[in-house]
Amino acid sequence: MKEKKLVALTFDDGPSSECTPRLLDILKKENVKATFFLVGKNIKENEDIVIRMKNEGHLIGNHTYSHIKLDECNISSAVGEINKTNEIIKSITGEDVKYIRPPYGAYSDKLLSHVNMTPVLWSIDPDDWATTDTAYVVKSVVYKVKNGDIILLHDIYDSSVEAALEIIDRLSSKGFVFVTVDQLMLD
Ligand code: NI
Repeated sequence: MKEKKLVALTFDDGPSSECTPRLLDILKKENVKATFFLVGKNIKENEDIVIRMKNEGHLIGNHTYSHIKLDECNISSAVGEINKTNEIIKSITGEDVKYIRPPYGAYSDKLLSHVNMTPVLWSIDPDDWATTDTAYVVKSVVYKVKNGDIILLHDIYDSSVEAALEIIDRLSSKGFVFVTVDQLMLD
């Protein structure tokens, strides 16, 4: 039996009216489902993008309201940042938000005991935010990817959208199947 090769593409910091619709077009064309961790304050005036994410089968998660370091503020501010974003997303999609990607991967167990959410970190970080060199980002992912990896990208840069397209092409041809993070966690 052929070895299963699953991988999750995750996109942080959006939605971006400049970049996210184009990424969604690519994902639709390639029939790839991804996971988006949204910054609450970026949702205003981009509600249509969030509706598209849901309608097109992507998983929507929380990336706080204003992209704060959750371990550097008090618990009530941190919980407020998380709940506000959950409420905004739910008001658009009608669904509870279950997954959170803490900005910078920073959170505490104490904070988690105050919110009923599952933190999702990542296993491959090509630092796409720090470069416009698409080829570098693609290589950083493709050379080390393995079954079960969670790839971190940001849908607020054109170069990251370009890289995502190339990553999808390269990994598809290697037999990888793209899933949302909830599917990876069940596996
Ligand atoms: Ni972020």
